[in-house]
Amino acid sequence: MKILITGGTGFIGKQLVQVLSADNELTLLTRSAGKAHLELGNHHRFLGNLGALTSLDGFDVVINLAGEPIADKRWSLEQKQKICDSRWDITARLTDLFHASENPPHLFISGSAIGIYGDNAQSEPVDESFNLAHFDNTDANEMFPHSVCSRWEELALAAADKTRVCIIRIGLVLGCEGGALKKMLLPFKLGGGGIIGSGEQGMSWIHQQDLISMIIHLMTHPECQGIYNGTAPAPVSNKQFTQSLGQALHRPTFLPMPASVLNIALGEMSQLLTQGQYVYPKRILASGFEFSYPTLDEALAGLLQR
Ligand SMILES: NC(=O)c1ccc[n+]([C@@H]2O[C@H](COP(=O)([O-])OP(=O)(O)OC[C@H]3O[C@@H](n4cnc5c(N)ncnc54)[C@H](OP(=O)(O)O)[C@@H]3O)[C@@H](O)[C@H]2O)c1
Repeated sequence: MKILITGGTGFIGKQLVQVLSADNELTLLTRSAGKAHLELGNHHRFLGNLGALTSLDGFDVVINLAGEPIADKRWSLEQKQKICDSRWDITARLTDLFHASENPPHLFISGSAIGIYGDNAQSEPVDESFNLAHFDNTDANEMFPHSVCSRWEELALAAADKTRVCIIRIGLVLGCEGGALKKMLLPFKLGGGGIIGSGEQGMSWIHQQDLISMIIHLMTHPECQGIYNGTAPAPVSNKQFTQSLGQALHRPTFLPMPASVLNIALGEMSQLLTQGQYVYPKRILASGFEFSYPTLDEALAGLLQR
């Protein structure tokens, strides 16, 4: 198949490219073709700008993962704009290209994140049927991840009259080469790990390999469409996550991180750590998907005991 991937140079994208490149012809959107060439090999086509395309004719599938990292820099107004624009502009352009196509790709998989569920403090997990309408009257600034994702999804779903659209609300992707776990490993290995804030906030994680398998599952199951939670079926509290990671690394986790300290250090972005969601992947399970790493201890053992 001919597949167009945005974000193919990222933490998730690189793993996807590795898996898909065996049997498919890949075109990767990247702002740094030279670097991507070195990292991903020279057997892909690299595209610097979607403006170079007039339609998506010729592609079978589009996978959209690009976006300014959400947790790398303090959320200044300028940075928030970058986080939004990078996702919204690329997704809107892709949807326009679907509409401009005579033979559009048969599938559009587009990223989103569980931040769309806001700060869900209940330990009863939310699934895809959770009613997001009550967020509509909340100040967008208080609900930044929700606002980013809701527009991101809306723009992708606008292509649904031309193709099968699958949106993945991605959780905390666990892998050692990127994402949150990579950032946590050093402090935990040094014995500086501990619960964050109350420790009661949900952490809905997914093993990197299961997320890639989920994308392949959506590609190979034409009956799948709409919203899917990209999380393992066993979300945990921050307290449980901290204990499991400490145990997997055989390190103590005595040092709590008060929410007030994080707030001073990170500003508004601290809500990514002090707030959370318990999310359940009801729809992907109902479609027959089986997780290789359904529990956190299995996922951490798989990643850390190599
Ligand atoms: N990792 C997670 O735990 C997680 C959780 C929830 C949601 N997600 C979402 O899943 C997607 C992929 O995640 P990831 O962890 O693989 O992300 P990542 O490693 O940060 O990679 C993101 C990709 O987006 C492109 N990009 C970055 N900034 C951009 C900008 N300002 N404008 C245009 N393109 C830009 C980069 O491509 P070039 O530099 O080559 O152009 C990069 O390959 C992201 O949209 C992320 O929000 C990830």
